[in-house]
Amino acid sequence: MIRFVILFSAFITFAYSEDCDVRNFPDGTVCVCSANYCDTVPSLDVSIGKYQVYSTSKSKLGFSSKTGLFSTQDPAQNVDNVKVDRSIKHQTIIGFGGAFTDSTGINIQSLPTEAQDKLMESYFGKSGIEYNLGRVPIGGTDFSTRAYSYDDFPLDTTLMKFALQPEDLNYKIPLIRKANILTNNKLNLFASAWTAPPWMKTNNDWHGIGFLQTKYYQLWADYMIKFLKCFLAYLGVERAVELGSWARGAKYIEDIFDNLQYGAGGWVDWNMALDETGGPNFIDNMVDSPIIVNATQQEFYKQPMFYAIGHFSNLSESDSDVQALAFLRPDNLTALVIYSSQSSDITIQIEDSNNQKAEIYIEANSINTVIYE
Ligand SMILES: *[C@@H]1O[C@H](CO)[C@@H](O)[C@H](O)[C@H]1NC(C)=O
Ligand SMILES: *[C@@H]1O[C@H](CO)[C@@H](O)[C@H](O)[C@H]1NC(C)=O
Ligand SMILES: *[C@@H]1O[C@H](CO)[C@@H](O)[C@H](O)[C@H]1NC(C)=O
Repeated sequence: MIRFVILFSAFITFAYSEDCDVRNFPDGTVCVCSANYCDTVPSLDVSIGKYQVYSTSKSKLGFSSKTGLFSTQDPAQNVDNVKVDRSIKHQTIIGFGGAFTDSTGINIQSLPTEAQDKLMESYFGKSGIEYNLGRVPIGGTDFSTRAYSYDDFPLDTTLMKFALQPEDLNYKIPLIRKANILTNNKLNLFASAWTAPPWMKTNNDWHGIGFLQTKYYQLWADYMIKFLKCFLAYLGVERAVELGSWARGAKYIEDIFDNLQYGAGGWVDWNMALDETGGPNFIDNMVDSPIIVNATQQEFYKQPMFYAIGHFSNLSESDSDVQALAFLRPDNLTALVIYSSQSSDITIQIEDSNNQKAEIYIEANSINTVIYE
């Protein structure tokens, strides 16, 4: 009887995570999520001498995890190796994130509440990829359903009529609040504007070649300050969507590697959620997004791009077909991200400057994160 109880309690503390609900499309594979189901990130399971590898590959989407033990021996056969030198440190990572565009809000809100929660958890939550950075558009962007600024009253040179818009109140602010709760108040935001109100510009237009008129430099600065005050008061050409495209995920990985190697302290994606056509966008500039919402079917699809960013955002040289970057995490664990664009599986040796060695199996077209002390 006692034995049974012990076994039972050991069972319920076992690291638990949800697998990818695979669906194949002509361009590739996605993981399907809905109000009832969404895959999660397996929890951390490392200790001295034991490493954990998280993997995502073209043939197996989602995050799978396995553990292994370090040794001090070199492998029997000759394999490539990745060396981690703890004495050389580069930039500090600020974080990873995406943009709270109007389209992001419209699409997320087109899902049932439980599915919305799963989508936000996927990006910001503990069982998700833990984004901690957000970009906030000041006014509208092309990923809005209309052109607007916070003062569309020509020659209102005192900004008397300045006001946040329904898009801020209905989409951006509620989502930012949710994200902030999910990150335990650790969300960092930065804001940027697409355009000044047309009447402040030389061409009096939303787009085209126009500049801020010199006489409005101060007014434009005041406009930004007003935005910050109002907003904080509330807070407290390719085919657009290629569902499941591993190639697009690979482009994200390569871009993030490049940016980090040249000293970037973070990386912020554009729209977090778009619809099946890659919108809405009022100038028909449809694009792809790591999460695509199918409002008709009340579900959303996490694409390879989503998992690609996840390997960096939850943590943490060369143009060869195997790239690696190591991050020292705030909890002092090391996270070594290894990306392979080779078309066959390989084995590589990882070797840390504290003489921990391990052979790691790397699947074809995969991104892997090795975590250890
Ligand atoms: C992400 O971080 C959480 C909390 O630190 C951890 O439980 C999880 O295993 C991590 N996932 C990855 C892929 O590093
Ligand atoms: C979205 O759902 C609709 C309705 O079930 C379905 O017809 C459509 O094929 C779905 N879109 C995708 C990309 O699966
Ligand atoms: C990480 O290591 C540094 C330097 O050894 C130490 O000061 C810090 O307290 C450690 N942090 C954690 C979370 O253990």
